[in-house]
Amino acid sequence: MSTEYDVIVIGAGPAGYVAAIRCAQNGLKTACIDNWINAEGKPSPGGTCLNVGCIPSKALLESSEQYARLRHHGDDHGLIVDALRFDIGKMMQRKNRIVGELTGGILALLKGNKVDFIAGAGRLLDGARHSVEVTPPDGGAAATLQANNVILAAGSRPIDIPAARIDNRRIVDSSGALAFDDVPKKLVVIGAGIIGLELGSVWNRLGAQVTVIEAQDAFLPMIDKRLAANAQRQFKQQGLDIRLGALVLEAKATANQVAVHFRDKQGEHTIKVDKVLVATGRRPNTDDLLRPGSKVELDERGFVIVDEHCRTTVPGVYAIGDLAPGPMLAHKGSEEGLMVASIIAGGSGHINYDTIPNVVYTNPEIAWVGKTEEELKAAGDAFNTGQFPLAANGRAKIHDDQGGMVRIHADRDTDRILGVSILGPHASELIAEAVLAMEYGASAEDIALTCHAHPTLSEALHEAAWAVSGRTIHALNRNR
Ligand code: FAD
Ligand code: NAI
Repeated sequence: MSTEYDVIVIGAGPAGYVAAIRCAQNGLKTACIDNWINAEGKPSPGGTCLNVGCIPSKALLESSEQYARLRHHGDDHGLIVDALRFDIGKMMQRKNRIVGELTGGILALLKGNKVDFIAGAGRLLDGARHSVEVTPPDGGAAATLQANNVILAAGSRPIDIPAARIDNRRIVDSSGALAFDDVPKKLVVIGAGIIGLELGSVWNRLGAQVTVIEAQDAFLPMIDKRLAANAQRQFKQQGLDIRLGALVLEAKATANQVAVHFRDKQGEHTIKVDKVLVATGRRPNTDDLLRPGSKVELDERGFVIVDEHCRTTVPGVYAIGDLAPGPMLAHKGSEEGLMVASIIAGGSGHINYDTIPNVVYTNPEIAWVGKTEEELKAAGDAFNTGQFPLAANGRAKIHDDQGGMVRIHADRDTDRILGVSILGPHASELIAEAVLAMEYGASAEDIALTCHAHPTLSEALHEAAWAVSGRTIHALNRNR
């Protein structure tokens, strides 16, 4: 193994492996160190995203959604299934197979791009030329590597709360809730954030009675208020019992159950459930990453302090992905990885953080980019809004998903798009058009004057763009 590199990347999640591949493509001698070991005891690059995050959660969302659709809507379609059942073991096997194929693919991509993949834990030492200590997974003797540049991409892990300590048996984090071997009869989810809603939905669809306990009074406060109210109503119809302004005081596990004691505006309550999922946010993995004296500074929450080019307080050391401030999203980390790889190779790089899309993969899906109406109002911006209901979109009707809407906000003077929010089927895919439009500085009229195929869900975006100037065809123009 070589010990001298142009670049060493610590972490092979979607931030780190993308950075490493692009560095190598840019002609830089690159190593990528990662400490993820899978259930078979093998290195498994891909980080949280591939191993216990984006991919396995979406695999279970897809399986459970197909089941729920047949169960609740099969009859409408004339699909008669006499005894619809599911096999949780097989569902998990499918999820694990997808994860295995994708993580194996990352290993092949790293190798094919001539990145030296090193299994082990990396730690940044100090010194003028950057040194990184690597401890192998078996805890054997550490090696020291050197590089001109180091990219820190060690990701994040769940936040534990004192009132409900993870025991990995009855009280679990998201990784545990992606691997239940049976459907809990009753499940408490602490936190109505993205993980709570996605995984709460999975188990609710498969038959668990799910109570979601959320500390904040507002439901999904970061999204458009109308979408939040609409989504909350739909989740309630699906059976998710969401308690807002509620605080868990204690979750006490016994051999067979967990007693969850919580307080809300109505008073104090105790419910007894089979499992508790703690989904109260994530924090950066900086604990063992930096030797004291490395001079890389952290903020008060433990994130690595970076500038707009992901440069840390030490020249030649960068931090990307969940380790750096900003949304904890796989695609945000990957974008940062590409930017840093370009800068290290002597090129330029820039990220428009205003055009990073956000998606909640529930049913309905929720996707948004740019500013919400509430943010624009708070900033005092003058804007027009176009809104289109999916109830007036033919394809949404065909889909049995008509509860949602598309909202577009555009600058009142220039018509430039400032934000787009979508609630409904395939919002995760539809948002890409809005992202592209915003990236190119498009106006609402640019989308309106673009031909969209019929019948598609994208016509709802098209119509919302017309609605910005009060000219939608398939709905009355009330929402300006
Ligand atoms: P990570 O993916 O966490 O990867 C960091 C890697 O570094 C890991 O392999 C870790 O083991 C390794 N590492 C840590 N310390 C060291 C060290 N000292 N030495 C060597 N290696 C080290 N985001 C989305 O965009 N879309 C989604 O649908 C989505 N779904 C999610 C669902 C769940 C249940 C969870 C938990 C997260 C989800 N996320 C999603 C968030 C997403 O997973 C993260 O934002 C993303 O993985 C961050 O990428 P990263 O490369 O910064 O870190
Ligand atoms: P989150 O920040 O989205 O939500 C956590 C929720 O828990 C918040 O609503 C918070 O108010 C609440 N909370 C915190 N402490 C609490 C307490 N003691 N009692 C009750 N409620 C409490 O974090 P989450 O869901 O854990 O996800 C972590 C990150 O992972 C997210 O920031 C997101 O970026 C990423 N992620 C992204 C996904 C996607 O893009 N689809 C899917 C899943 C995760």
